[in-house]
Amino acid sequence: MPALTPPWPMSNPSRWCCLTDFSQHGLIWWLKRALMMVWLILRGFNWKINDGAGRNMSVEDADAPVAGSEYSFFFDRQAYTDANPDVLSNGMDPMIHWITYGRDEERRGVRKNYYAPFFDAEYYFRIYPDVRGLVDEGRYASAAEHWKMTGLGEVAAGRRSLDPRFDVASYLARRPDIAIAIGENNLIGIYDHWLSWGRHELGLADNIAASIISSEKAAFWQENGYIILEGVFSKTRCDALNQRIDHLWQNRADGRLGVSIDVNIDREGARRIPFAEASDDEKYRPYKLNDLVMHDEMVADTALDPLLCEALGWVLDDQPVAIGSLNFERGSTQEFHTDTLYMPGETPGGMTAAWIALEDVSIQAGPLFYYPGSHNIPLFLFSDGRPNQRLEEFQQYRDHMYGHVAQMQLMPEVFLPKQGDVLIWHERLFHSGGAIKDMSLTRKSLVVHYWRFADMRAKNLMSHGGGYFWNRPPLT
Ligand SMILES: [Fe+2]
Repeated sequence: MPALTPPWPMSNPSRWCCLTDFSQHGLIWWLKRALMMVWLILRGFNWKINDGAGRNMSVEDADAPVAGSEYSFFFDRQAYTDANPDVLSNGMDPMIHWITYGRDEERRGVRKNYYAPFFDAEYYFRIYPDVRGLVDEGRYASAAEHWKMTGLGEVAAGRRSLDPRFDVASYLARRPDIAIAIGENNLIGIYDHWLSWGRHELGLADNIAASIISSEKAAFWQENGYIILEGVFSKTRCDALNQRIDHLWQNRADGRLGVSIDVNIDREGARRIPFAEASDDEKYRPYKLNDLVMHDEMVADTALDPLLCEALGWVLDDQPVAIGSLNFERGSTQEFHTDTLYMPGETPGGMTAAWIALEDVSIQAGPLFYYPGSHNIPLFLFSDGRPNQRLEEFQQYRDHMYGHVAQMQLMPEVFLPKQGDVLIWHERLFHSGGAIKDMSLTRKSLVVHYWRFADMRAKNLMSHGGGYFWNRPPLT
């Protein structure tokens, strides 16, 4: 348990004056807050914070993996104090202020960077026209934020009506997996899925291409170098893919797949071997199973899913070609790097990658870390004038990257996805696999790298789903 010492600086004891100002609030209000403070102290300040997508994480957990990081990866102190300047005069840590007071007072500016990328703001404004005014006033950062933070609760409480175009029976008939994942009697949950995703997945949206990457999302990508797509793949589909990987492991000895596997990655005994020769033990240590996108239809269906390819196509400004895939069952523990070290595109911005969560990821399982904005760090070229890694010069690369991280004052964030979420990142985003705190925890994922179609005209390409894959020999 953490110490009972409050986790904000103690240099300003006068901050407590705000707690004893009875002139602004009634006695009941203060009694509620006093009880809340006692409860929080008894819990040892193991705060639970919400990331804006309905997920809770502990501050203790969030703080653990990165020395000197903020308490929360999701709470935006700057945005909160910008929106609520009185918080600064209290001297209280902004996040503590929000937990203690701001949340009840419905203060704005909490959310950091989470949104539903397929959420159609224009459509939402049409069915709930009052929200446009709230967003214009700055009460909410976006229509998606209003929906997740307020609208969903209002629908559940009967204060906001369901869209009359939503028909639960026909939706469940077209997506039976939703009934399994969400529960067929959970009308609000099913409506949430339909409004946020289903309209697009089933081609029901008014304007699919224009709304997958909105101007807001485009701006986020430009500034941060990544986007998160929530719930792209259903539980049914992820579970089936995980079963498929288990099946391939069970039948690997027949050698029909012909792919390779990197075992004991980033530790002693690391090596690449034919998958057919992997031992049973190696499944339970960090590994990368290579190239299944070219050799397994279910993996290819996922990597080149048409909806995912629409987003990738926007990122690349061309049709995506999967040039390789990696299936993980545990974290990679790979140190911070940019993927241009290994597979730079032929043209600047000509490569991107997708990290597809095949199960919920815990912070103890070695999740993905990244520095938002690090894609703006100038590309490091090795002595041969290329971005491809030369091991003997790797320290110069590190110095270049960390020097710019410090100069640009970038802070790491962590990707703690739910099953089916996808993170798409820029070819120059500086990222790593976090330390695995509990080796019994899995972090099943599919990572795919893509190049531009226009850069691969001379290659043997196979059309699949919404894009292509490079039909090349397996890595050896
Ligand atoms: Fe990477």
